[in-house]
Amino acid sequence: MDLQLTGKTAIVLAASRGLGKAAAMSLAAEGVDLVIGSRNMESLQQTAEQIRSLYGVRVVALAVDLSQAAQAEAFLKEAAGAFGKIDILVNNAGGPPFGKFESFDDQAWYQAFELTLMSAVRFIRLCIPYLRRSGSGRIINITSLSTKTYLENSVLSTSLRLAVTGMAKMLSNELGPDHITVNNVAPGIILTDRIRETLFHDLPAGMTQEQALQRRAGEIPVRRLGTPQELAALITFLASPLAGYITGTTIQVDGGAVKSPF
Ligand SMILES: NC(=O)c1ccc[n+]([C@@H]2O[C@H](COP(=O)([O-])OP(=O)(O)OC[C@H]3O[C@@H](n4cnc5c(N)ncnc54)[C@H](OP(=O)(O)O)[C@@H]3O)[C@@H](O)[C@H]2O)c1
Repeated sequence: MDLQLTGKTAIVLAASRGLGKAAAMSLAAEGVDLVIGSRNMESLQQTAEQIRSLYGVRVVALAVDLSQAAQAEAFLKEAAGAFGKIDILVNNAGGPPFGKFESFDDQAWYQAFELTLMSAVRFIRLCIPYLRRSGSGRIINITSLSTKTYLENSVLSTSLRLAVTGMAKMLSNELGPDHITVNNVAPGIILTDRIRETLFHDLPAGMTQEQALQRRAGEIPVRRLGTPQELAALITFLASPLAGYITGTTIQVDGGAVKSPF
């Protein structure tokens, strides 16, 4: 299938590793030029170089702390100048910490608010003028399966990602006439550094990392964790002109982990 993405330009945030990196690589494989961002310039540059050498597309790497408003504006200014247009925005960021509701004070909530909700708000607002000019603008937010089902200890993430979900629905209506689609992709348990850190933290005595992975996999209908490439494939399709009639949705990539039929 030709996804008609060659020559498009995408911003992919939090793309030095994990899900963001996989999304950037998958878009690059379809001929999309990229501006990628995250805090650690060294690993971001390595990712940029890897993508250039594998796919031959143009990749600009810009350092950004997504929780900082001023940095978002500076990033967008450079990003917009890099190729003169923006067709696709993939909103992603590091996840807020896990923990029980009572373990988080106001400061923790404000930090999570900046990182998870306000980074998406700001990048969407900054990108809209460019996406309007694209004629097939795409906004794709990476959220979480916790927007569809209970996920232990995820109160910060779940609360703020549901705000992103609500915002995306509102925007799909407001931006539809401009041919801009707005969707959320909700990862289930996909093996990245974040999941390794969480799963391997406080392992019960005698349990190996492999056993912890198998135990988690046993709770998922397809009996395995997902790969970043499996989420990236959906993002890439949603980014394409072929997905122009899909908007305002949240699609999970979770091996069947969400039990609700809706
Ligand atoms: N993996 C899953 O199964 C899963 C499930 C549900 C939801 N999610 C969510 O999906 C998102 C990505 O997860 P992941 O598994 O890919 O995580 P990851 O492997 O830990 O990667 C996180 C990425 O975010 C960047 N980052 C973190 N804080 C940042 C900040 N303040 N500003 C800019 N960049 C920042 C990191 O780069 P730098 O360190 O260079 O900044 C890195 O590129 C997270 O929000 C996570 O909660 C993941």
